[in-house]
Amino acid sequence: MSLFEQFSKDPIAYLDRTFNGADPVAISSDQFCVGDPLTARRVLSQAEDLYDDSADGAGFFSAQRFGRRSQQVALRTQARLIFRRHLDSNAGDALASAVAANIAASSEWPDAGNWFFVRFFRSVLLHDGSDPRLFALIDDIIKTSSLVSAGSRRASWRRRLLRLKRTWLVTGEISSRKKAPALAPRDLLDVIIAVAEADQPLEELVDILIAFALSISSTGFVLGWALYLLATEGDPGPSVPSDWIVLEALRLWPTPWMLGRFAKREHEVAGTHIDQGDVVIACPYLVNRHANYWPDAGKFVPERWANPESLRNPAFLTFGHGLHRCALADYATEILSHTVEVLRSRRFGIELKDTARPLGPLFYPPAFTLHWGRD
Ligand code: HEM
Repeated sequence: MSLFEQFSKDPIAYLDRTFNGADPVAISSDQFCVGDPLTARRVLSQAEDLYDDSADGAGFFSAQRFGRRSQQVALRTQARLIFRRHLDSNAGDALASAVAANIAASSEWPDAGNWFFVRFFRSVLLHDGSDPRLFALIDDIIKTSSLVSAGSRRASWRRRLLRLKRTWLVTGEISSRKKAPALAPRDLLDVIIAVAEADQPLEELVDILIAFALSISSTGFVLGWALYLLATEGDPGPSVPSDWIVLEALRLWPTPWMLGRFAKREHEVAGTHIDQGDVVIACPYLVNRHANYWPDAGKFVPERWANPESLRNPAFLTFGHGLHRCALADYATEILSHTVEVLRSRRFGIELKDTARPLGPLFYPPAFTLHWGRD
């Protein structure tokens, strides 16, 4: 059996079995997973300009496109402003109402978590005055995305049609907005238009919008993991704040579990020879469970986050590292914590439908039905 076949059979078991705490793990003849925290950070930091991280690493989280390097600082800064505004005007009771409105008393997970965030951040992506057909389009894109949709398998002709529709509708919206520019950005699409470069094809701008939509949607997987862990491991009680629960869920089950980079030239990673074109993968799953960096690394111990040093532990790579580090990491953690808090404050319980270890391009939790008291 080839290395890749062995890996593909049960990737997590393979990684657990083969990682010795230091050396990169070969998962095929040209792909290597790095689990040592400092080595993984070195790969992502791009200090030596060894990797082409703009390349499309199919299936990896980095395949999401957030525009050109030259526009990313502006994109990050302006996107953060839009998110901050939304979080501030949807705090406290408003958030509790949004949870009640968008998570049914009995709901099917992990999809329910994804849809919660898509609904909650709807106006962040596209303000209410946008072409109404765009909202249905975004839903369709999420349903057919192999990144966030666990179940959907649509025929390829259906995907191709969707792509045409997507280009047509979104570029139409962009063109009409360009004719009557907003004074201040109303949503992420306005931000994308504001940072667009003169020679940038509209299709590239559409890709950025979709990357935002998929990131928003995938945040629901983390919510699913947090609820799953609370229900299966036991809620440690009110003395353990919800942000520790979320951080521990992010550590144990980093939704983007592989951050791939293409080697631009030959080099060595921790003694392993890498050829040009090989893929070096910083692996948050291995890094976050590194036994030298966390006591009881494989266990759910939210109390470990009481120690402020935990936030500086290099063995936490869920949001990446370096130039590409997640632009919304702190805000995503914040909204996740508040949402978990709302659900913990009303009794919730889960009914497991599947115990199989699930795995896709992102880690998503096993299927369960959530019941919670909304009143
Ligand atoms: C808990 C949920 C999330 C996780 C775990 C996460 C994780 C990550 C990771 C690992 C990267 C780096 C990818 C790489 O190095 O290949 C990244 C980048 C990024 N994320 Fe997130 N993300 C989350 C939520 C979000 C949300 C909600 C948004 C905004 C809609 C967002 C926006 C971005 C952007 C813009 C980048 C690219 C930054 C750049 O290249 O300059 N993320 N994220």
